[in-house]
Amino acid sequence: MALTSFLLNEPLDMHLHLRDGDMLKLVGPLTSNTFSGALIMPNLVPPITTKEALLYYKQRIKEACKGDAFEAYVTLFFKNDYTYEFLEDIKNDIIGIKLYPAGITTNSETGVSSMDVEVLRPTLETMSKLGIPLCVHGETNGFVMDREKEFMPIYESLAIAFPNLKIIMEHITTKDAIELLDKYDNLYATVTLHHLLITLDDVAGGMLAPHLFCKPIAKRPEDRTALLNAALKAHPKLMFGSDSAPHPKHKKECCGCAAGVFTSPIALQVLVELFEKYDSLDNLNDFVSNNAKKIYGLNIKDKTIKLV
Ligand code: DOR
Ligand code: ZN
Repeated sequence: MALTSFLLNEPLDMHLHLRDGDMLKLVGPLTSNTFSGALIMPNLVPPITTKEALLYYKQRIKEACKGDAFEAYVTLFFKNDYTYEFLEDIKNDIIGIKLYPAGITTNSETGVSSMDVEVLRPTLETMSKLGIPLCVHGETNGFVMDREKEFMPIYESLAIAFPNLKIIMEHITTKDAIELLDKYDNLYATVTLHHLLITLDDVAGGMLAPHLFCKPIAKRPEDRTALLNAALKAHPKLMFGSDSAPHPKHKKECCGCAAGVFTSPIALQVLVELFEKYDSLDNLNDFVSNNAKKIYGLNIKDKTIKLV
């Protein structure tokens, strides 16, 4: 018999773009009406780099989510010149710091220009001491299909150099990244819904599908299979992070389409369908909630969602 309803406890989206202004007001409630909380990306224009900007953004998110029981876990945009005093002062207001290589994706122009461990050492050592997790957009600027794969040695050098730093490989898209998860205790990852569903074929194999264009780009069938298998068994170091990234329609349906797939309104519903299809519903609560709670040590209020 087909499933008619399913209960999810405290669903969490551990990688989300809520934007600002009217867009925030539009998309915020589409997450907060189903999810209990979300890790919010800091790549606004300008990016979130000060305590003032961070707390004010959190307040705007709260207003946009109109009283929903929803926790916005905000992040800071990584800069290499944050002082110990600054990070110590802001540590309780953030869930982590997001590192972007400069120019690698939307609004990342002021990201880091070097991924050299020695260049990053002062800030990462401070984060490690203070227990602030590092979230990373792990792509080089190489050939588009190889960018994540080429970043694997960088993840390895970071994991080795900072063994007490929690490093989250964001929105992984490859078999290589899944394999790396089991190699280092301090490496974790998020995976999106779209990377569990699509390959490059769906983006560009037929008519170009701009609404499926994102960074990192969807990869090969064997990559999708590896991601899906890890998600379906709720690999304990893997969390759901939608990377839902809305853009105005005219910026998607144009020449020079912006990167981002917008999934927040349907993410949980499609996850239930997907896990049901593969007879893995028993693992869905771990994948969309318990793993993240354990990895980030979250203590979130009860919110049970019934999907019908
Ligand atoms: O496709 C993407 N869109 N990937 C990112 O890393 C950023 C995001 C955005 O902010 O639009
Ligand atoms: Zn993102």
